[in-house]
Amino acid sequence: KLPRPYTVPFTVPPVLTPVRSDATADYFQLTQQAFVGEILPGVRTPLWGYNGQVPGPTIKARAGKQTVVRQINALPATHPVLGYVPWTSTHLHGMPSKPQYDGYAGDNSMPGQWKDYVYPNNTTARTLWYHDHGVHHTAENVYMGLAAQYHLTDAVEAALPIPKGRYDVPMILGDVAFAADGSLLWDDNTHSGVYGDVVLVNGRPWPTMQVEQRKYRFRVLNASIARGYKLALSNGQPFQVIATDGGLMAAPQQVTELTIGMAERYEVVIDFAALPVGQRIQLVNRGVKNAVDFDNTNKVMQFQASGPATDTTNNTVPPVLASPHEAMTLTPSMAKATKKLRLQRVNELWTINGETWDDVERSDYERIFSHPEVGDVELWEIENRSGGWFHPVHVHLVDFQVLSRNGRPAPAQERGPKDVVYVGENETVQILMRFGPEHGRYMIHCHNLSHEDHDMMTQFQVGVHDA
Ligand code: C2O
Ligand code: CU
Repeated sequence: KLPRPYTVPFTVPPVLTPVRSDATADYFQLTQQAFVGEILPGVRTPLWGYNGQVPGPTIKARAGKQTVVRQINALPATHPVLGYVPWTSTHLHGMPSKPQYDGYAGDNSMPGQWKDYVYPNNTTARTLWYHDHGVHHTAENVYMGLAAQYHLTDAVEAALPIPKGRYDVPMILGDVAFAADGSLLWDDNTHSGVYGDVVLVNGRPWPTMQVEQRKYRFRVLNASIARGYKLALSNGQPFQVIATDGGLMAAPQQVTELTIGMAERYEVVIDFAALPVGQRIQLVNRGVKNAVDFDNTNKVMQFQASGPATDTTNNTVPPVLASPHEAMTLTPSMAKATKKLRLQRVNELWTINGETWDDVERSDYERIFSHPEVGDVELWEIENRSGGWFHPVHVHLVDFQVLSRNGRPAPAQERGPKDVVYVGENETVQILMRFGPEHGRYMIHCHNLSHEDHDMMTQFQVGVHDA
């Protein structure tokens, strides 16, 4: 039996403490493990979580100091319902990691194995997320709970008077369905992706958050397998988008609706100053084309005003947030090459330019989709001709600019650095990016994780030599 929406309290994932620190790095340890959790009140649900938590703990990092994360695969030898072997490969989505630490498909840790991942934190402040990337089982592994946020801060962001501390809040969206025995239901015979009838925020179904009468910053991440959302406030109130996947926008953008595909991150500031004490407003989902809707998937969470602000510092969104991110200063004339990515369904498989990951994984250098040198700029045109689907396309390693959407300038919410772009049915989107600082092979894929697993993924190689 599902709870009534807005009856469960909102919570945020815990912050992970380093196991040790030295002058150059903070060291963390995470164990991927099976446990029995409670998502629906009173219902026991087998889950997989980092340190037995869903979502996993938030890692905090500061630009200029490395993070080293030991990932221990302590999962069972086989998935309890689906029966596959849960090898894992962890990707820190949004970090320009070296290829050997990027969660490359095939870089598998089997149950009982572990791996240390080194993250340089050599980029701008942003909301990242770490999630499983085990080849062909990413979707099932993430659905079981292997996803969490990672916050990178820097001097520019720290100096801004925007909401901080307890007013800076992760908001991880997901959707799940339940079998009669309380386990998560996985129903994906066509490799299209699963759509749940329960919307989760930070692992809680349609929660209610008590808010003070002031501004809050939410780090919105869509960690769903296949569901896109069009978020809005029930009273029509506008809110400010201050950051995109790659960090701060140059200037905040006011919107009344926010479309968010899988893996996209948007940081938004909502002002509850005018919400009378005791009153409630809801964050709703107006729905996107090509998602499967259920009775309550138009609801996300609720805010209730608890009283006046107990802290009125850092309660501002300044008109200038940061100097433009490097990706936003690129122009088409800087591009050394223009490439096309066609998203298509061929014989029940999801393909990019007609090829699957199995087709391209072992490609020779010459055949690889793109092979820029470090520092090169390229313009990619992504075309969705798959009919009846949207695909959020993620490019590893880089931050890009959304140059155009269907021949028009990017909408307000996309005027910041991105690493995932929502490509709707029959849409054509152009992106511009500079490659580096690392060289080696990196993945490009649809972030509908069922599409990724079957088999909408290709790769590019920066520099001639493998790293
Ligand atoms: Cu968030 Cu290749 O993934
Ligand atoms: Cu897709």
